[in-house]
Amino acid sequence: MPSFAALPGFRDFYPPDFTVRSHIQNAWRETARRYGYEEYDGPPLEPLELYTEKSGDEIVRQLYNFVDKGERAVALRPEMTPTFARMVGARAGGMRKPIRWFSIPQLFRYERTQRGRLREHFQWNVDLVGETDVSADAEVLAVGLDGLRALGLTADDIVARVNDRRLLDALLQQQGLSAVQRMAAYGVIDKLGREKRDESLRRFRMEAGLDEATAQIVLGMVESGDLSALENRHGSEAVSGHIDRLRRYLDTLRDLGLGDFVRFDPTIVRGLAYYTGIVFEIFDRKGELRAICGGGRYDALLSTVSDVDLPACGFGMGDVVLAELLKERKLLPETKARLDYYIVAVSDAERPLQRQLAQVLRGRGRTVSYGFGAAGVGKQFKDADARGAARVVVLGPDEVKQDVAVIKEMATGTELRVNLSRLLKGEEPA
Ligand code: HAM
Repeated sequence: MPSFAALPGFRDFYPPDFTVRSHIQNAWRETARRYGYEEYDGPPLEPLELYTEKSGDEIVRQLYNFVDKGERAVALRPEMTPTFARMVGARAGGMRKPIRWFSIPQLFRYERTQRGRLREHFQWNVDLVGETDVSADAEVLAVGLDGLRALGLTADDIVARVNDRRLLDALLQQQGLSAVQRMAAYGVIDKLGREKRDESLRRFRMEAGLDEATAQIVLGMVESGDLSALENRHGSEAVSGHIDRLRRYLDTLRDLGLGDFVRFDPTIVRGLAYYTGIVFEIFDRKGELRAICGGGRYDALLSTVSDVDLPACGFGMGDVVLAELLKERKLLPETKARLDYYIVAVSDAERPLQRQLAQVLRGRGRTVSYGFGAAGVGKQFKDADARGAARVVVLGPDEVKQDVAVIKEMATGTELRVNLSRLLKGEEPA
């Protein structure tokens, strides 16, 4: 028989997996709502050009693209930001600024599958358009951190590493790097934690054309995670404005009660091409997993995909690494199915009543089920137990005659005799 297993890097969501997926997405949605962000979505298939022009090389190499039957070059969306920029750009004129939107799209990237990296994932996108002040950058990161807090994670579990591309740009410019060299240097800096120091030095020389001394200085600069030390050593007029802005950003996050979650890290540059300002990534504190979240400011993107020129910032948070971290921290919800009620019919005569009562309770929002066939009471109780029923209602001929139903609390085994007519009117015992 041919293998019909899911493709590599694609997930089957069995009900317990779906419970986890919903748990994460509910926390994301609820958090975005608390900050006043509105939900949107776009098409999962887009013109190929939207990405070849706007995303970084890495994403373009990973595209799922093909030519459709109308001879259009198309791609499954690998990220949401270009779609978001196009959609907001098309309507921004008539909208109140700042615009706050969020979405939870499923995205597709042909990646080498490994721990935390699949070929599809769900990504929470939170973006804000129309504000240049750092308070907007800080709010966006606060939404992301609060989304993680809503799932039970604390500052002991996660950390946001933040930087400003403008600061790094000024520092590198100060060392005499041209625009082309700076872009090449970003590529090396982006991989710093994942490569040996010597390899990074070699790449600074080979790919960014730096001499040995400059390569050493640049490496030393980005290895220092102390803003004041950086200012003392490399401070200049060009640099200090960017340092001040970063300080205000960190202060704002402190005001929001999130100071413990944030750390300056000049090695964070982000792989995507469109970022222009403050950038950040959220990691597990132990640094064992890949990034949970990445984002930043992209002030030029809207003008390249639409007729408006508006500043923007936002992030994408994936569900794959996050689910791993939650599992490790034992923060995943119980995935066993639960029922509020299971209704047992002792004989076939109680079947109509069983269905009637089920509908009454379901009408009150309860989760209710029962067995279909003619099974004995013992079997029905077993089924109720296996399905995680909190209560079993027993409808038997003698009790029904007396207008009585027996309710058993499965956790304690206590039985309660209640008035059946009242139960059928929706009066449940406490
Ligand atoms: P990104 O860094 O490419 O950013 O992705 C953001 C997050 O999505 C990553 O930190 C990771 O958790 C998750 N992710 C990405 N690729 C995969 C994958 N193959 N498997 C599992 N998880 C993955 C962006 O996509 C930007 N567009 C985010 C953004 C929104 N920036 C501004 N607004």
